[in-house]
Amino acid sequence: MRALSDKTKALMARGTEFLGSEHAIMCGAMSWVSERNLVSAISNAGGFGVIACGAMTPALLDAEIAATKAMTTRPFGVNLITMHPALFDLIAVCSKHRVSHVVLAGGIPPKGSVEAIKESGAKVLCFAPTLALGKKLLRSGADALVIEGSEAGGHIGPVSTSVLAQEILPSLAADHLVFVAGGIGRGEAMAAYLEMGAAGVQLGTRFAAASESIAHPAFKKAFFRASAREAVASVQVDPRLPVIPVRALKNKGTEEFTAKQVEVAKLLDAGSVDMGEAQLQIEHYWAGALRRAVIDGDVENGSVMAGQSVGMVTKEEPVADIIAELVGECDAALAQRPVAA
Ligand SMILES: Cc1cc2nc3c(=O)[nH]c(=O)nc-3n(C[C@H](O)[C@H](O)[C@H](O)COP(=O)(O)O)c2cc1C
Repeated sequence: MRALSDKTKALMARGTEFLGSEHAIMCGAMSWVSERNLVSAISNAGGFGVIACGAMTPALLDAEIAATKAMTTRPFGVNLITMHPALFDLIAVCSKHRVSHVVLAGGIPPKGSVEAIKESGAKVLCFAPTLALGKKLLRSGADALVIEGSEAGGHIGPVSTSVLAQEILPSLAADHLVFVAGGIGRGEAMAAYLEMGAAGVQLGTRFAAASESIAHPAFKKAFFRASAREAVASVQVDPRLPVIPVRALKNKGTEEFTAKQVEVAKLLDAGSVDMGEAQLQIEHYWAGALRRAVIDGDVENGSVMAGQSVGMVTKEEPVADIIAELVGECDAALAQRPVAA
């Protein structure tokens, strides 16, 4: 990789110092995808890998962290879902391994969780869906924030990355570390967010189909074929039956999910099921669906979670090449900016 310009280095400096990585590029945790192979490859290539704990038990997480440590000596993080019933046991596993960074995802961290992570000396990153919540999370001890727009793959909020960045970076980025995620596919976008004050960026979709990713060849092929417009957010059909939006590639599963909601709503109208049962049927529809797509390669019925940047994923590439390309594009974009008087 060619040497980076001073401008790029300067804009990434706060992020790289915080992460302990060469570049301020995080690979966001992706359930089933972000395991030892991808995470170590990202960190070894100068980025910052994050293990997706997802629904793992503490014993499984223990084994995954140990295996990742055997594959890289560079720092990496662990992403924990706040509503995991064994959250505090998972935090204890991270502490035991002296994991340097823990990312709390999936909602407001429960009381005592941020403190428990910090006691081990680890840094805490939290997702901030709004400016007010971002401020609250920083007051509660978060060391850095991730803002993720609705272009992203996986579970998403309602607001786009460009709007979140404009709402949050001008208020918080001067004094706090904010990483921007969602829809970033090229280094020019990275350059723009760094110039707006971001400490760094987080990408998922660009890395999900990398050579080192254990995702099934059929999952990767679906990524190479898809365009941005095929990565759609799941739709809620009936206001009584809440659906947490997920961005994934359109397939038989996404179509049938819509039909399932209509069917359950009709059962509810007819009084054949009560509200609890109806909501359970909706929630359970996607259980195991990401695993089905990523591991089993069932890209028709499984959930092929992908962000809108999927159109920029056209071939299988080693992580190091993707990172080199992103950083090169970022550098070139910054080099073209007029020099300040
Ligand atoms: C297949 C897939 C699975 C994901 N799983 C998780 C997850 O388990 N936890 C999480 O916090 N984010 C998850 N994400 C979001 C990523 O960590 C990351 O923030 C997002 O992909 C960034 O946006 P991008 O897809 O536009 O690059 C997932 C994304 C994808 C594509």
